[in-house]
Parts: sequence; C-alpha cells; structure tokens
Amino acid sequence: MQTLNEPVSLAAQPTPRHWRARLEQQLDHWMTTPTLQRWATASWMTRWLVRRRAERLFGLMAGFVHSQVLLACVRLQLLQTVRSTPRTAKDLAQQLGLPESGLQSLLDSAVSIGLLERRHGDRFGLGPLGAPVVAHRGIRDMVEHNATLYEDLRDPLALLRQPGQAHMNRLWPYAQTTQGAPGVSTPEADPARVDGDAFAHYSDLMSHSQPFVIDELLASYPFADHRHVLDVGGGLGGWVTALARAHPHLKVSLFDLPEVARLAAKASADQGLQDRLSVHGGSFTEDRLPTGADLVTLLRVAHDHDDDTVRQLLHAIHLCLPLGGSLLLAEPMAGPQGEPSATAPYYHFYLMAMGPGRLRTPEELTALMQEAGFTHIEPVPNPMPLHARLLVGRKTRPTSAAPLTRESVHLH
Ligand SMILES: C[S@@+](CC[C@H](N)C(=O)[O-])C[C@H]1O[C@@H](n2cnc3c(N)ncnc32)[C@H](O)[C@@H]1O
Repeated sequence: MQTLNEPVSLAAQPTPRHWRARLEQQLDHWMTTPTLQRWATASWMTRWLVRRRAERLFGLMAGFVHSQVLLACVRLQLLQTVRSTPRTAKDLAQQLGLPESGLQSLLDSAVSIGLLERRHGDRFGLGPLGAPVVAHRGIRDMVEHNATLYEDLRDPLALLRQPGQAHMNRLWPYAQTTQGAPGVSTPEADPARVDGDAFAHYSDLMSHSQPFVIDELLASYPFADHRHVLDVGGGLGGWVTALARAHPHLKVSLFDLPEVARLAAKASADQGLQDRLSVHGGSFTEDRLPTGADLVTLLRVAHDHDDDTVRQLLHAIHLCLPLGGSLLLAEPMAGPQGEPSATAPYYHFYLMAMGPGRLRTPEELTALMQEAGFTHIEPVPNPMPLHARLLVGRKTRPTSAAPLTRESVHLH
C-alpha cells in the first residue's frame, strides 16, 4: 500500500492520435532538452525570455521564503515601526532584541520583495508593498492566520490525500468534516456540537478581512434600487452596518448560525441602527430564511460548502425572496472559462484545507443559481476582483418546492 509520503509514479501513455496533441507532445519534449535550453540562453534573441522565465520559476521555488519574510515583518511589527521613522539596521536590532547580522538579512530580503525601501543614511523605510500591510489590519491577520495553512501545506500530498486531517479544518466548526475513507469528506458537522469560542474566533477573523469585500460591493452595485437587504451568513455584521450607513433609506437584516447571530446582535447593539437592522439566528440548511428583503447578499459563504449544501442554501434564498427580488453573490472565484487566475492556487488550497467547500468558476456558480430558479444571472464588474468577484441573479418565477419548514429565531 502507498504511504502518504511516497512519490507518485504514473504509467506511460500511448502516443496520442490527434496531430495537435502529437505536436504539443513533441514541443514539450523539445523544450525540456538541455541543448535547446543552452542554445536559448546563449542566443541574444531568446535570452531575455529565458531569463524572465527563470526568474518567474525562481519566484515559485522561493515563494514560501517570501511568505515567511512577510510573516517575520508582521510579527516584529517592523513595517509599523519604520513607517513612523525610518531606522538603521543597528537601531532596529537594538529595539527588537535581535542579532544585527540576522536582522540585516531580513531587512535586505524585505527590500528585495518590496516590503521595505532603502532610504538615505543607511535607513530602512516602508516599501510599496509594505504600505498596504500597515494600512489594513485584515492583511496582517491573514498573514498570521496563514501560519496554520502553512502547517497544512508542509506535505501537500498528505493534504491532497487526507484533506479532512488539516489543522485549518478545525478552525471552522460549520465546515468540519469527519474523516471517512482517505480524502473523502463526509457530511458537514453539526455546528450545535461545537464550543462557542470557535465561533467567536473565526467570526473575528472574517470581520477583519471583510472591509476589502465591502469596498468592492459599495463601489460596484446600485443598492439605491432596493429597499431591504438580507445578508445570509453575515458574520458579525460589518457588511450590513456599513451598507445601512452608506444607504440611509435601506432596511437591513442579517442571518447566521445562532451562536454567530448572538455575537452580531451584541456587536451592532450600539450602532444606532435599531430601527433599520434585524438579526436572525438559524441554519440555512434547516431553517426558512426571514422574508421581507428584496435583495439577498451572500458574501464568502458558498465557497465554504459542497455543491449539495450550496443547492440547499440557494434554494432557501430563492424561497425567501419576493418575485422580482435579487441575489448578489460575492466571493473569490476561479478564472472565468477556465482562464488561469493568480489568486486561484491560494483559494484552492485554502478551501481544501478548510473543509468540504471549493473554489468555483463564475460559470459553476451561475449553473447552481440557475438550478435554484434564478434567472438574468450576470457578473457585476468590480474594481479589484482579488478578494471577491460578484454575480447577480433575479427571481422571476415562484420557487419550485419548499423543503425547509422551521422558522429562524429573531434575536433583535
Ligand atoms: C466565511 S464566513 C463569511 C462571513 C461574512 N459573510 C464575510 O464575508 O466576512 C461564512 C459565514 O457563514 C456562516 N454559516 C456557515 N454555515 C451556516 C449555516 N448553516 N447557516 C447560517 N450561517 C452559516 C458562518 O457562521 C460564517 O459567519
């Protein structure tokens, strides 16, 4: 039997029959011959291309070191320190209690990857990529949180074979899988059996990275056309409160698991929105969603769940909307029509380690929305589709069947 760390060997395939596949195979063979590599490096015509590819490949090979340089900068609060006053390596070594020679390597590395910049008098100041890290707590939290994902990726084959064993899986109670056969996740765990701290921990983390998505939504979608917005899986309520402030005519509601809804009710109690905000606790797999909203928003929720759960969720949303109502879905997506996307590897592995969910293409999400009964589904272009892409769909016909009967709990 194969163990987790054994290399994988694949049987040779017969020569393909199609001329194009044969040509591609021939090119692959040619591109990997040392003679061609040497020739392409020596020739002035191709050298620039070889160099550019070699640098990109080196970046891939060394990427984990870059991430750890970033983590060290975040843990030492180095970027915040040099933002107020650029400092020399000696100053910083004294202040941080680190040996100067090691720190010098960290500083040089941080300059090379754009986190820091050299300033006059041998000082180090904030670099172009360091500035957003200082500006956004959400980035620093994600860098720190990535330490857990990093543990899970130490042996990528073990993760591929047994995703349910990942450390990340334990951080998200609603996404936990109980391990069946290796690599096969069984149905999602019952959130009612998980301790309350876990809900507070992941909800805090999500609320710190939510401002990126909030900015995208407010900049891209005409909320003025609606009167009541329900946010499903709304977490601690950062989105609904920001929305209510930006559009004073709107009523807003939030629905999340009872433990999270209680935290959201507490967090929003003193925001002066009592007349316009309601919070509901329940599970979208078991409870009916509250009615009354003409727009439902779904931010970073579907990607946490397997297709069957997403079907239940979208069905529940379709059911709670009036005819003419809309669903606005926002989450990271794979490149449309299978296009490569720079952010896809991160989200693929993040979601694999987290549990039963997956990164979907806009086409896959569109198909799931169509299955639930939504029509007129289209992308909403947004300025920075890094943290989320947006899709909107409408309810133009009654919902086909209604399997959910339990009422959700109105908390405040
Ligand atoms: C990744 S978080 C996103 C939170 C927020 N929308 C955001 O973008 O920051 C997913 C949210 O879905 C909620 N959730 C997961 N399963 C749920 C269920 N069965 N019913 C209701 N909410 C659920 C979680 O509690 C969590 O708040």
